[in-house]
Amino acid sequence: MKKLIFVVTLAIGFAFINACGGGEPKEKPKGFDADAFNEEADAGAKEKEKAAHESKGIGKFTNVEIAATLDAKMAQAGSGVYDLKCASCHKLTDEKLVGPGWKDVTTRRKAEWIMNFSTNTDEMITKDPAAQAMLEECLVRMPNQSLSDDDARAVYEFMRKNDGVK
Ligand code: HEC
Repeated sequence: MKKLIFVVTLAIGFAFINACGGGEPKEKPKGFDADAFNEEADAGAKEKEKAAHESKGIGKFTNVEIAATLDAKMAQAGSGVYDLKCASCHKLTDEKLVGPGWKDVTTRRKAEWIMNFSTNTDEMITKDPAAQAMLEECLVRMPNQSLSDDDARAVYEFMRKNDGVK
């Protein structure tokens, strides 16, 4: 029994690390046969991921036009905002700091969702299912950063650059 509790604790630990770190492959906890359990959890997670990916979130951004190529000047401005207001909690890799790393965030989420989250943080964390799920995993509530609309758009362009858009 003790061993089982240990293993389950370990499994929950893995789930936390993966969820807030974002994008890392799911490691199956070793030592007990939980394939069925895992498959069910994976299916649920995939559905949630899909819903999160298609969501525009809650806020004023309902339709943001994004060009196929990078606006380098805007990305540069976004880099400045990142250094000043975001870097203390977000890495540019997939590694978690206080919040999730930003690698691939532009493929995980829609532009509108990211910009709404960046400017309407409190309401998103209170009402948006994907944001709430993140809070459960990260255990820290992202403070509102008082970004202007232009700043939010610039940071998004910087995220695209970080994700390899040229
Ligand atoms: C004090 C720490 C902190 C700062 C500063 C911060 N964030 Fe966050 N951020 C978080 C946390 C924690 C989360 C996870 C959601 C939650 O639990 O609130 C998060 C989540 C996010 C997400 C969602 C990431 C994903 O993987 O879906 C985006 C986008 C984001 N932040 C943008 C920003 C931007 C833009 C800035 C700077 C203007 C910023 N954050 C500054 C802590 C921070």
